[in-house]
Amino acid sequence: MQFPKIIQGGMGVGVSNWRLANAVSKIGQLGVVSGTALDSLFVRRLASGDPEGDMRRGLDAFPFPEMAKRVWDEYFIPGGKPAGTPYPLSPMHQRRDLRNVVELCIVSNFVEVYLAREGHKNPVGINFLEKVQMPHLSSIYGAMLAGVGYVLMGAGIPLHIPGVLDALAMQQPAEYKLSVIGAVPGQDTAMHFDPLDYVEGPLPVLDRPRFLSIVSSNTLATTMLRRASGRVDGFVVESPTAGGHNAPPRGKLQLNANGEPIYGERDMVDFAGMRALGVPFYLAGGYGNPQKVREALDQGAAGVQVGTAFAFTRESGLRPDLKGELLSQAVAGTGEVFTDPLASPTGYPFKVALIQGSYSDPVVTAARTRVCDLGYLREPYATPDGNIGYRCAAEPVANYLSKGGKIEETVGRKCLCNSLMANIGFEQTRKDGFVEPALVTIGDDLNTVAQFLAPGHTSYSAADVVASLLSLTVDETPAKQARERVLTTA
Ligand SMILES: Cc1cc2nc3c(=O)[nH]c(=O)nc-3n(C[C@H](O)[C@H](O)[C@H](O)COP(=O)(O)O)c2cc1C
Repeated sequence: MQFPKIIQGGMGVGVSNWRLANAVSKIGQLGVVSGTALDSLFVRRLASGDPEGDMRRGLDAFPFPEMAKRVWDEYFIPGGKPAGTPYPLSPMHQRRDLRNVVELCIVSNFVEVYLAREGHKNPVGINFLEKVQMPHLSSIYGAMLAGVGYVLMGAGIPLHIPGVLDALAMQQPAEYKLSVIGAVPGQDTAMHFDPLDYVEGPLPVLDRPRFLSIVSSNTLATTMLRRASGRVDGFVVESPTAGGHNAPPRGKLQLNANGEPIYGERDMVDFAGMRALGVPFYLAGGYGNPQKVREALDQGAAGVQVGTAFAFTRESGLRPDLKGELLSQAVAGTGEVFTDPLASPTGYPFKVALIQGSYSDPVVTAARTRVCDLGYLREPYATPDGNIGYRCAAEPVANYLSKGGKIEETVGRKCLCNSLMANIGFEQTRKDGFVEPALVTIGDDLNTVAQFLAPGHTSYSAADVVASLLSLTVDETPAKQARERVLTTA
């Protein structure tokens, strides 16, 4: 299996959905679905009546029909839930998930990857955030059942994922140690998943996907190669201009006059260091144009990972009104992206597009009452009685404090779970009629995406982006080389 030149980066929640990944992989580059919160997204798609029948088609291909039926029966609402009423919720994740939560994770991850692989034979990847640990094992297993070719993970140091992939490929039990704040030495924080507890029927044969670790420096890449529990097949080196979460600057956090983190020399990618590791690496963060792709290849990279340019494609899951608004800003050159050091409960800087009337607008922020009902960013903490509790710095402040959280941790935090669902048209409506606002994340490259719009057009496709990105690189396929040999000998 060759490595692709272009990776369409994972964009959660549901921005890089199966449609986008399918479009990219079909034309021979690597399409990556976001694996973040797929279970809740699946619930909302079923509760919306699955109007185009895509979820049903994916479920029909699931190898354990009884499990697929249980999920369908629990969440499908024929014709969709009545407008203006809340979506149903699945229980929040914890160290030991209930069986129906695990099944929902397996099934939803399967369906997303299955649909992304439909109609072509090229590999498809799935992206997870290391920080969102609790759904890891069941999600990865579901994606592997659908034949996922690559697992990509960042936002943390995923040392133990390679070993998990090895175990699950052999249908063996897998273990993952949850990071628990304040855990005492010897406290059992492990999560377990045994495929045999879930397989219904003959054991499917599984391939071990390639693992690409998303890092911000060659130091971290070296740590992964030295200490990971299994094979690391490559790296994506992401700079702080990239959309989504960014690694914090090295050293003491300093903010510029706008309140954004200041990055310096020490945060620059050391290309020679990356080349010296001897494994394929991709560059990400501002590589969404043909010149930068050429530059990355010249630096010895296998290619680039691009998010921002793909987020606005017709195939992406981003809400059409938000796509339209930001594309207009890009055309006018007026788009503004703020690197918010506080918004994400993870504590990592998070890029936010400034859109009036969205959650980036202080008026909207002030109008929202804190609530935590999806809970993907809850962090496990050790309770005084030796158990594990869960808290999120964006949950109601009193609740957070009652769980031992510190007041300063709550300042400026935003509910990414609910807002990222709103970004893709699955916003929650509260009982009092309040509708959860969107908070769009995008890279510093926002204004450059206008380059993909053909004259007179207001939208572009994933294929347009891929064609443009590759337009300055040499086609090294055997067919092309053969053509060139014929031409030079003629
Ligand atoms: C809308 C959006 C959502 C993103 N979500 C994720 C994510 O869930 N996981 C992740 O590893 N990276 C995420 N990223 C980062 C991309 O995968 C990619 O590395 C990055 O966008 C590359 O830089 P660029 O934005 O300059 O193209 C996201 C980026 C965008 C624009």
